[in-house]
Amino acid sequence: MDNKNIYRARKITEEEIKRQADCTAKVRERILSERDGGARRACCVVTYGCQQNEADGERIAGMARDMGYTITYTPEDAELIIVNTCAVRDHAEKKALSVTGGYKHLKVKNPDLKIGVCGCMVSQEKMSEKLKKSYPYVDFVFGTESIWRFPEILCRNLFTEKRGFYENTGDEVISEEMPVERKSSFSAWVSIMYGCNNFCTYCIVPYVRGRERSRRPEDIIKEVEQLVDDGYKEITLLGQNVNSYGKEYGVDFADLLSDICKIDGDYVLRFMTSHPKDVSDKLIDVIAQNPKIERHFHLPVQSGSDRMLKAMNRHYDTEKYLAAVNKIREKVPDISLSTDIIVGFPGESEEDFEATLDILRKVKYDMIFSFIYSKRDGTPAARSTEQVPDDVKTARFLRMLKVQEPIADERAARYKGQVVRVLCEGRSKNNEAMFTGRDSGMKIVLFEGDESMTGRFVDVKITEARAFGMTGVVVNK
Ligand code: 5AD
Ligand code: SF4
Repeated sequence: MDNKNIYRARKITEEEIKRQADCTAKVRERILSERDGGARRACCVVTYGCQQNEADGERIAGMARDMGYTITYTPEDAELIIVNTCAVRDHAEKKALSVTGGYKHLKVKNPDLKIGVCGCMVSQEKMSEKLKKSYPYVDFVFGTESIWRFPEILCRNLFTEKRGFYENTGDEVISEEMPVERKSSFSAWVSIMYGCNNFCTYCIVPYVRGRERSRRPEDIIKEVEQLVDDGYKEITLLGQNVNSYGKEYGVDFADLLSDICKIDGDYVLRFMTSHPKDVSDKLIDVIAQNPKIERHFHLPVQSGSDRMLKAMNRHYDTEKYLAAVNKIREKVPDISLSTDIIVGFPGESEEDFEATLDILRKVKYDMIFSFIYSKRDGTPAARSTEQVPDDVKTARFLRMLKVQEPIADERAARYKGQVVRVLCEGRSKNNEAMFTGRDSGMKIVLFEGDESMTGRFVDVKITEARAFGMTGVVVNK
């Protein structure tokens, strides 16, 4: 393999690792000595956005725990709040800003409260600046590439009372040293790589998460082994484009998946996200041959128009995409397929949009995640003069949902009367009388149950199957 063009992330030096450990110890000493009526200070990490961000949030919580904080999921109870932001759409940024603004009153009540903002939104210079100027109660801001330096950043703020602003500088590292505080005791995220090299023309991710870099296979396998040992039942491997994993080491994602499947235990594996341009026959074979890998494939198509796909810089056309779908369905017939769609990309004509509806009808996805195009400053598509008016975007979006609904219903109907294995996630938030979980295909399943089922696999016979979820009866606990 020609390694010349392969980007290698910088390794964190021993000195840097030691600095984080020293800062952790220093903060810990202070936090544990500042007991307030015997209660330890609590940290709340509030995460928005994708699973990668969730995984980052759990690392931040892990570092806070090691620094002596207890972990809470209620911001009102916290003395340290970290807002872990997303930048993928305008709505996500507005939400993060308004939530951060809402914490101002908590600081008025408790001047000791520290507020930090991190993640994709503040990896953009202009947003970091905005917080500096207009959010004076925010104590520190750090971009995605500085997460591993959180102990140092917090320590500096606690001991100097100086506000700190750390934007991304391009210093992308892989840190195996970060601890983790997982929200769930049975379902775990495992980042296998960071960043993205694809530069889809609508997407901010490559600018805020940097170049693609993979963790070493042995580090990933060690983490999964430990999770299985600890009783985790569902492990989801994460990357912006998992199919291009491992270039630095001369391995690929299929190799990694098949090596992970060799780990014994009662658990299942998921992965996301795959880029259609990189789906290999080898990967499909590994999925087909390994029952540990769940029967779900998320394959974002984004548009059904070849003209739009070109303008989006996606490096595939609908023919190539449909060939990949057919191959997946041929080798793994029971697989559930989902996708992401962007409606109203600049220049999208009625004809282009019809082509997207067409691909929905052709593929018949089990689930779609659809988004109205959102202009992201700094990306090529934002500079296009052919922006689609908001009312057209919204009308198309609603039309698309109407087309997809009967398709998803039809796809769901095949489950009726079948028994599916579900990892029970606990009581349903929307329907307190029922328990919930997902089947192998990521379909939400509701059933009557009890607390003892949470975190365990149960077999459920499906009595009702609709587009947005299924209902059933537990037949075997
Ligand atoms: N506007 C709307 N949707 C977007 N996505 C990424 N960038 C944008 C944007 N600027 C969608 C894509 C991607 C998903 C995670 O978010 O569909 O697959
Ligand atoms: Fe964004 Fe495209 Fe990278 Fe996904 S593959 S993160 S859509 S640039």
